Amino acid sequence: MPSIALREIHKRFGETVALSGASLELASGEIHALLGENGAGKTTLVRTLCGLHPPDSGRIEIDGETVGIPSPRRAQALGIGLVHQHFMGVPALSVAENLVLGEPGGLALRPRSLRARAREMLERWELDVDPDTPARELSVGQLQRLEIARVLGGGVETLVLDEPTAVLAPSEVGELLALLERLRDEGRSLVLISHKLEEITAVCDRVSVLRGGRTVASREVAGLDAARLGEWMVGRALPPRGRPAGTTPGPLALRLEGVKAEGLRGIDLELHGGEVLALAGIDGNGQLPLEELLAGVRPLGAGELNVLRPPLALVSGDRQRTGLALDLSLAENLILPAAARPRQSGMFRYGLLRAGELRKAAGEAIERHDIRGGERALARQLSGGNQQKLCIARSLRARPGVLAVVNPTRGLDVRAAAAVRGELRALAREGTAVLLISTDLDEVLELGDRIAVLFRGALSVVDPARRNRERIGELMLGGE
Ligand SMILES: Nc1ncnc2c1ncn2[C@@H]1O[C@H](COP(=O)(O)OP(=O)(O)OP(=O)(O)O)[C@@H](O)[C@H]1O
Ligand SMILES: [Mg+2]
Repeated sequence: MPSIALREIHKRFGETVALSGASLELASGEIHALLGENGAGKTTLVRTLCGLHPPDSGRIEIDGETVGIPSPRRAQALGIGLVHQHFMGVPALSVAENLVLGEPGGLALRPRSLRARAREMLERWELDVDPDTPARELSVGQLQRLEIARVLGGGVETLVLDEPTAVLAPSEVGELLALLERLRDEGRSLVLISHKLEEITAVCDRVSVLRGGRTVASREVAGLDAARLGEWMVGRALPPRGRPAGTTPGPLALRLEGVKAEGLRGIDLELHGGEVLALAGIDGNGQLPLEELLAGVRPLGAGELNVLRPPLALVSGDRQRTGLALDLSLAENLILPAAARPRQSGMFRYGLLRAGELRKAAGEAIERHDIRGGERALARQLSGGNQQKLCIARSLRARPGVLAVVNPTRGLDVRAAAAVRGELRALAREGTAVLLISTDLDEVLELGDRIAVLFRGALSVVDPARRNRERIGELMLGGE
């Protein structure tokens, strides 16, 4: 098994310095965690190893020999494979076809041999699905397993996973971590990028920490707990995670009565100003239909939806696809909703954007929400945490009576996540009614004044006397 070293890697994108002296030493047969705040350079570093971003300077060594990895094909030939956070296959093709996509002549196999080959791979990598199923019918967790099987099928000895657990349900996370341990025990080397510190202490052997594009430390995980790891990453102690302080609910702000729509089987809920109602649930149980219904892009089939304290603002669960216009600047994204009602916004005069007002709005949002990035930075260039803060900042400009947020801290580092949770609590304190839709149980427990669980398009309310992980976990799986 090879050992791999990345030494003194530098990489810029135009003006942005992404890496300035990043290193990583990967021994064979270990799981190596790569940790760092949003924008620290983790993804960029692993992409240099996988031939997706050749470095500007620095060395990559395999068993002490310097090698060039100018393309993904070369990385593959060296036995290095990358599992992206999102499915990279073709949804319309079957599971079997996806498995052989990258292989020369793979798709030319006869159906029988294709199926047999797929069966063998599926069994080997513990994915219990029919090879003929179209990939689009698989759950997020199954798609990820398929992706891993596909990458491993190419004979990979070094596997890199970029935030693989961010999209998984708690039980799926356990299964994935068990698979990673198995791969390690079979002698492969793994790099795991994750913001979930508990996962790192649970399965990783070593951890390297990136800060501002440089590797600041690298050591054994044994003896480190999550709090230590967090402290080490941001350079100071993190505030402990709390429980809601208990607010006095204000007037009724949002009411759903017998709401049915595609994917929703009858939802009743009442939300008051000043409180956070948290909806837990595994992805795919009605979160997206509810988000789309609130956004007004999914028709209401039956029942009533009333916003009693308008306006309602929504922070989408998918900041890249529907949340932001990635090729517009930070400032432009901030005032996008104003462009839809130019007269009221005060942003336009004679149909033209008032540059001074724009700059002022951007400056205020950057200051208040601690967004790292200039007003002219394109949304695409911001790190995940800063994109999320921008989405929240924008939704607040409308002074919403009701704010609905979907997975607001997904993909954020511990500090950025704490900042976003703090913002949501502060909003509730100021009287906004907050509807939190989140697949992260810790977040639900931390923020929800009241909690309900989404399961197959219906809601069950959690009895405050039974507000604990076990009970909520049961309801998430459909328990009574
Ligand atoms: N294609 C690109 N063009 C311009 N800037 C980029 C590009 N890719 C990354 N960057 C910038 O490089 C820096 C490092 O980004 P990178 O995505 O590697 O961070 P990360 O540690 O993976 O963060 P996160 O935890 O949010 O995923 C950031 O400042 C980012 O904005
Ligand atoms: Mg990243």
